[in-house]
Amino acid sequence: MTILVTGARGNVGRRVLERLHAAGHTLRASSRTPEELSVPAGVDAVRLDLNRPATFDAALSGVDKAFLYAESEGAKELFAAAARAGVRQIVLLSSSAVSGPHAGTDALAVAHAAVESALEASGVPRTVLRPGAFASNAFGWSHAVRAGAPVRIPFPDAHTAPIHEDDIADVAVAVLDGDAYLGRTLDLTGPRSLTFREQLGILAGALGRDIPVQELTRDQAVEEMGQFVPAPILASLLDQWAEGVGRPATVLDAERVTGRPARTFEQWAREHLGAFTAQD
Ligand SMILES: NC(=O)c1ccc[n+]([C@@H]2O[C@H](COP(=O)([O-])OP(=O)(O)OC[C@H]3O[C@@H](n4cnc5c(N)ncnc54)[C@H](OP(=O)(O)O)[C@@H]3O)[C@@H](O)[C@H]2O)c1
Repeated sequence: MTILVTGARGNVGRRVLERLHAAGHTLRASSRTPEELSVPAGVDAVRLDLNRPATFDAALSGVDKAFLYAESEGAKELFAAAARAGVRQIVLLSSSAVSGPHAGTDALAVAHAAVESALEASGVPRTVLRPGAFASNAFGWSHAVRAGAPVRIPFPDAHTAPIHEDDIADVAVAVLDGDAYLGRTLDLTGPRSLTFREQLGILAGALGRDIPVQELTRDQAVEEMGQFVPAPILASLLDQWAEGVGRPATVLDAERVTGRPARTFEQWAREHLGAFTAQD
């Protein structure tokens, strides 16, 4: 059985590839720039650009199962190519935004829902993963923390239940192993609801020093974060955070799929402390 892992150097894809490789699977790893991929011995690196249908057939030929990032442009053509290739399961990395209260209007949700719908319409057997906020979003604070400057964020008291990327990868591998999760959609979170301020407190505890927090107004956040995040996505994130203030996030952690306790944000902080202490 050959398994294709797209985005093989992404936060989640890289971890999925490592686990499947350790389990001895025959693997194909894809990227828009496969020449820049570093893959374990015996893994094929192929070009797959989810926006360029001309790359689909070659990348999917002979593939039995695939781990896929959601990319709405080209999704219909991609799933048609997967059906032609006889792919038996696609595990799609989607987003919990699709299950959210504003799924019809929220830009993140609309984009991910379009991919989910195209996959369903294609008839290719599927499992959809809808994680909430990734623990690794905390990397966004690392520059300020390293500099000893206040972390400037809007809605510091907004709750999320951050999920460790290793848990998303463990779930992906569990659902690729056999047919038990075919046709299922799995909402996934970390094990505990935490505000951004509490996450920063956990990082501060791991670092052994305070991390000052400076609250931004929504307008200030639009001005500062708008330099890096497309406007509709930023609006969607700000809406989600505004709604999360004082409202603990629902916990639907990975343990129900993996059978192992979900990794905590404390563990994530310990494992990634170097990013918050290293000098530029
Ligand atoms: N961060 C969160 O809190 C959160 C929560 C829920 C869902 N999500 C979803 O999770 C995904 C991000 O996951 P991540 O952090 O693992 O991503 P990441 O580290 O940014 O990696 C993204 C991967 O996607 C690949 N990619 C991007 N555009 C592509 C294209 N046109 N064709 C083929 N491959 C492409 C890239 O591969 P190459 O550069 O090698 O081509 C890269 O490896 C997004 O869809 C996001 O909406 C994120």
